[in-house]
Amino acid sequence: MIYLTRKMEFSAAHFYYNPEWSEEQNQRVFGKCANRHGHGHNYILEVTVAGTPDPQTGMVLDLAELKQLLEREITDRFDHRHLNFEVPELAGCQPTTENLAVTIWRLLAPKIRQGRLHRVRLYESPDLFVDCYGDTQ
Ligand code: NI
Repeated sequence: MIYLTRKMEFSAAHFYYNPEWSEEQNQRVFGKCANRHGHGHNYILEVTVAGTPDPQTGMVLDLAELKQLLEREITDRFDHRHLNFEVPELAGCQPTTENLAVTIWRLLAPKIRQGRLHRVRLYESPDLFVDCYGDTQ
């Protein structure tokens, strides 16, 4: 089994806020992340596909196809967007790195046609990332 990873970057804004809580509770739990003007991150996404190399091509999957899939499903949807307002797939959930990784898994897993999606790793900053190995919700 081979694990092939493609890495990409996108920038997006968000804030954390639970409308069922008081302002004070939001401040206590989320701190400055509750500022509803939002703040930005340069996210780094690593998408890992597991498979065996095709005997004809020597490749796990068509790399051009993977690149196009990531541009269509990730860049077009998330890059330079405000995650709280502009991404229907995140409606009703807190746009944390955790939830974003699960959403990315759901978007990509059914569309990988050769091999299978093994891991979504999403960096919110150079020293903080989450790993998603499946649809855990
Ligand atoms: Ni943040």
